[in-house]
Parts: sequence; structure tokens; C-alpha cells
Amino acid sequence: MPMNDLFGVVEPVFPARQQLAAGASLLRGYALSHEDALLAAVHDIAAQAPFRRMNTPGGFQMSVAMTNCGEAGWVTDRSGYRYDRNDPLSDKAWPPMPDVFTQLASHAAREAGFVDFKSDACLINRYEPGARMSLHQDKDERDFANPIVSVSLGLPATFQFGGAKRSDPVQKVTLRHGDIVVWGGPSRLYYHGILTLKDGEHPRTGRARFNLTFRKAL
Ligand code: SIN
Ligand code: FE2
Repeated sequence: MPMNDLFGVVEPVFPARQQLAAGASLLRGYALSHEDALLAAVHDIAAQAPFRRMNTPGGFQMSVAMTNCGEAGWVTDRSGYRYDRNDPLSDKAWPPMPDVFTQLASHAAREAGFVDFKSDACLINRYEPGARMSLHQDKDERDFANPIVSVSLGLPATFQFGGAKRSDPVQKVTLRHGDIVVWGGPSRLYYHGILTLKDGEHPRTGRARFNLTFRKAL
């Protein structure tokens, strides 16, 4: 069933599983049945470890606000990028990973061909209109044998998925509420990013997009 957007661009909604590259799959709507539990958990985590806009080693403040849950959280500051067992704002451990997160990540990974994925770190990104994430690789994890599982909630965004080199051509894919992207194996270190979020109002999240990025970091 094709779906028309405002500009008459037709994007396939099915098949539910779309291969973006070797080792990279898009699972349309895979998280939808858990939307309530996922959003409640994000809210809960943010009450303990608030969203904050971190600084890059180069001294820029990121437009995306972030928090984490799990055994370790991804952080950046003037000294670099790393995983930290504690939230630098409170110096306390990050909130534990809720079961609904762990299980969804592991099921989605399996659906994409990665068995036994046990995530120990979840980075939660909050995009408001105007926020973006430039092309980058996820490479601060200890071992690249495990995939990345990325869950989208709220406003739609344009995901760019490139290749092993920054200069490789990128595919542009619209990620909507409930979509999951999994990349690992040959595409584990592929460049990816999110174009500037357009303004909008989502019935579940208002003027925001949330992204949960599950990793095995430690
Ligand atoms: C990320 O690469 O950390 C975020 C990707 C996304 O927001 O979909
Ligand atoms: Fe990333």
C-alpha cells in the first residue's frame, strides 16, 4: 500500500522489512505496538536524568538534547566522546534500562538477522524542530560485532544512510513514529545522520522526535 505525502512522493509502506545495505534493515512500524510503554519510559528516564545539549570536543553545543539509560551512557564534552557509567550531571548511575527497551531491541535485532543482541546502553536523542545530527559513525563501542538498533518516535525525520567513507553516496529514508533501523555486520560502521527536523506536531510527542539508539557498549 503506497502512502502519499504532501508533495506527492510515494514511499512504500510495505514490505515491512526493507534492506538498506548488507547488514542494514529498516523495520517499518516495528515499535508501534509498544508506543505507550516506550514513551512512558522515556518520560521516566528524563525525570531522573534530564535531557541536555552536550558539547562536542570541538566546542560546539549539539542541537539534539540527549540522555541515557543502561549500564553506560554515551557522553561528549571538551575532552572527547566516551561511554560513562555515571551521568556527569548527577555523578550517579544512569537509570536502568527498562525491560520493554531491552526486549524490543533484542527482538528487532533478531528480525534483522542478529541473534542474541543484548544491549547495555541506550542513548535517547530528543530532536526539536531545527535540530539535526550530521553524518557520523558509531564507533565508541568496545566491540563492533554487535549491531546498532535505532527506534524512532514522534515527528518524522529524514535519515541519511551512507557507506564506509564519509564521501560515499547517502540514501535518504523517512523515519516515522514506530520505525526501527538495525545496522551491523558489514554496515556496522557506515556513516549516518539526520537532516534538520521540520516543524510539526505529533499526536504522541508534540513538536519533538525521540530516537532510542541501543548499543552493546561495554
Ligand atoms: C544517532 O545516530 O545517534 C541518531 C540517529 C537518529 O536520530 O535516528
Ligand atoms: Fe549514530
